Amino acid sequence: MSTGTAADDQFYREYILDHYKNPRNFGRLEKPDITHEEDNPLCGDVVGMDFKVTDGVIEDVRFHGRGCAISQASASLLTERLKGMALEDAKKIDKHDVLGELGIEISPARIKCALLSLKVLKVGAYGLADEDEDEE
Ligand code: FES
Repeated sequence: MSTGTAADDQFYREYILDHYKNPRNFGRLEKPDITHEEDNPLCGDVVGMDFKVTDGVIEDVRFHGRGCAISQASASLLTERLKGMALEDAKKIDKHDVLGELGIEISPARIKCALLSLKVLKVGAYGLADEDEDEE
């Protein structure tokens, strides 16, 4: 994907703001099979996710939290992608996918914002350490 023109950036900025203002799958699930929350230690912002998993498939997912547009839009985008996805496939989502979905250049200072929801997915759903989270 190109990260080129100002018009592109403008489009993606609006796209992110739309997800921030109208988050998809925002809220809580009644009886989640998995629930997990993480914060960004740099700012204290929070993202949490509830998952309903049936036969290895993410049947439903909701997120909650508070934070900057990047963190909340990234969570919203991720939940859209996760719904109906096999856990095996969800495991393959990595930070490049998440950053790619946002579609704009994310400055190093905002990387933790963008990847907070991925951390929730990894740590919560798979018990994986945040090994590639701290790469600079
Ligand atoms: Fe807190 Fe982005 S500033 S998550």
